[in-house]
Amino acid sequence: MKILAIESSCDDTSVALLEATDEKITILAEKTASQIEVHKKYGGVVPEIAGREHAENIMPVVEEVMEKKEKHDVIAVTSGPGLITGLIVGVEVAKALSYLWDVPVVSVNHIEGHIHSPVLNNSQVSLKNITLPAICLTVSGGHTEIVHIKKWGEYKRIGGTRDDAAGETFDKVAKMLGLEYPGGPKISKLALTGNTKAIHFPRPMVNKDTYDFSFAGLKTSALYWLRDNKLKKKNTFLSQIFFPKRITINDFCASLEQAIIDVLTEKTFKVAEDLKPKTIMLVGGVSANKKLRETLQKRAEENSMQFITPNIQYSMDNAAMIGAAAYAKAKKKEFTKWEELEANPNWHITG
Ligand code: KG4
Ligand code: ZN
Repeated sequence: MKILAIESSCDDTSVALLEATDEKITILAEKTASQIEVHKKYGGVVPEIAGREHAENIMPVVEEVMEKKEKHDVIAVTSGPGLITGLIVGVEVAKALSYLWDVPVVSVNHIEGHIHSPVLNNSQVSLKNITLPAICLTVSGGHTEIVHIKKWGEYKRIGGTRDDAAGETFDKVAKMLGLEYPGGPKISKLALTGNTKAIHFPRPMVNKDTYDFSFAGLKTSALYWLRDNKLKKKNTFLSQIFFPKRITINDFCASLEQAIIDVLTEKTFKVAEDLKPKTIMLVGGVSANKKLRETLQKRAEENSMQFITPNIQYSMDNAAMIGAAAYAKAKKKEFTKWEELEANPNWHITG
């Protein structure tokens, strides 16, 4: 089955053409127009600008992917969750192409897309060799969610953030440090040579009896610490109270990264202790964080659980994962009539 997939829920206009079988997903063509350069100066994604950029980029990206390719059988599109300004562009294009080409549409939940990302360009991983039940932690600039996967297609959202997402916390603190968007990769690079114990940042809600997260307090704590310990020359902070030595920007980043990783790890394994999954999955933009991958993998192995995460290239938003998620639905003919297709920015993944 050939699937043309469209993803535009945040700041990437992405289109992919896939050949899907039960054994394998092959990416025939893919193209992503990233908006990072446009949003950089604002320190985060500006929804109105994102919408305009998607509208400008989407047809050239579709044309490039479809160049000289045969007709496909299905169109897959992200209908939610995400920014309404971006979702609308993808959904409207999917509707128009469905009508024009008389090809059915599969409406895909963005988180379900991320859940399928580990199978992309990875000969080691297919849905068949991910042992269920699994717990999937989706961490990105817009999402921090834990989903229980009992069977493929049967999902239960177990917990999520009550305020900022994990990636958003990296991005907002990076902005306070004067680092460019997206801040996650910059903070994790600086953290490589820092001391994770230099500053004790809080681990919000880590011991609370809930599977939910909250990162707003950690962000505020970073802001107050920076206010109280001004940045000096050579990227060192003056920490008057607790440390006789000066703390470097690397120490700050390492301490912050460790706090985020600790919260994500402890919550995931709290869920794992209760639900006893066979597999732990880590997906979404923040899954590109090497230390987070290594920490979760180690804990999973200690608990005799399989650990699954995508190739870093497919951690970020991409259309191929949307196509991969659409395949099983298309086989069951779970199509949405183009007249009924709608963007739903608050679509929670469930059953
Ligand atoms: O999934 P994604 O491409 O888009 C959203 O749906 O948000 O994720 C982007 C997010 C950004 O917040 C970025 O800072 C974060 O992923 N990120 C990282 C790393 N690489 C990307 N966060 C921490 N460490 C990284 N290495
Ligand atoms: Zn995403």
